[in-house]
Amino acid sequence: MPSAFAPGKCILFGEHAVVFGHPAVAVAIDQGVRVSVEASDRWKLEGSSFEPSRHPHISHIIRNIFQYSGPPLDIDVDSSLFSAAGMGSSAALSNAFGAAMHAHLNPDEELDAVKLAKMAHSAEATAQKGRASPTDTATSALGGCVVVSGSEVPGTRHVFDTSLKTPEGSREWSINVVDIPQGIGDAWLVIGYSGTGSPTGRMVAKVAKLISEVPERMEEMEAIANITRAGLAALSAGNLEGLGMAMDACHESLRKLEVSSSKLDRMVNAARPHSMGAKLTGAGGGGCMVALTHDPTRVSEAIEVAGGRPLMSRLGAQGVRFL
Ligand code: PMV
Repeated sequence: MPSAFAPGKCILFGEHAVVFGHPAVAVAIDQGVRVSVEASDRWKLEGSSFEPSRHPHISHIIRNIFQYSGPPLDIDVDSSLFSAAGMGSSAALSNAFGAAMHAHLNPDEELDAVKLAKMAHSAEATAQKGRASPTDTATSALGGCVVVSGSEVPGTRHVFDTSLKTPEGSREWSINVVDIPQGIGDAWLVIGYSGTGSPTGRMVAKVAKLISEVPERMEEMEAIANITRAGLAALSAGNLEGLGMAMDACHESLRKLEVSSSKLDRMVNAARPHSMGAKLTGAGGGGCMVALTHDPTRVSEAIEVAGGRPLMSRLGAQGVRFL
């Protein structure tokens, strides 16, 4: 039975600033979504009857991408990600389902990760009223460390460009990768889930309102862009202390943009004594924080004591793959 796994993601730098054209840096994580498909006598999803309107990503891939008209399918999904928490669970689902469908329909054809990333991005856009950044889908498809920006980013390797017609006009992105040096292998990310969802649209609107009311806050976007550049240079050089310092600085900028919460701050503060750096990750409000550490067990315990749910991951897991 064709089965594929696609990783989730965690944003290291650049959330919110990326909305204003600055780069964002994301890494694929060990947790993700596994999907398998097989022909069946009726349409099934996770053992129950499949209702297309309730699963827009899957329906879009079946109808619009593969234009599938074969026998009904039994689709099995297994996720180790928290959903609606900024971990890219819908992107991982789209990539894993797209890959499993590809293997089911074209068993002898290799998988093209860039094609898959574009396909999953179109599924995200369809499900989100035409608005979707390619960060989650590209990171999940390519794996490793991905830099998304309005233009090519020095010190990175350009992989592809992508665009989307949104209700606000056409948007274009450059997708780049950074090789994670071997020396970083003994460091861990511990992701702490706050227990509440991360409302991306609401947090992006909140930042836009803050900037229209207090235009000086736009300086924080420049500050995040500088931190992102410094953090990327540290990551490329295998400089974990520098990487952690940049993560701490990024959290302070995000706090000034008022996208942190008392729960996220509590988890970040609990992780810091045992970490090289810690910050909220993604849109904020709720969702997750992330810490960089050599002691993932201690950091997980500290996050639990602060009321969060921890997940441990290496930096930059492999992208989508068949199982
Ligand atoms: O929590 P997430 O993964 O949805 O992060 C969103 C990142 C933002 O910069 C806040 C929004 C965006 O579209 O890039």
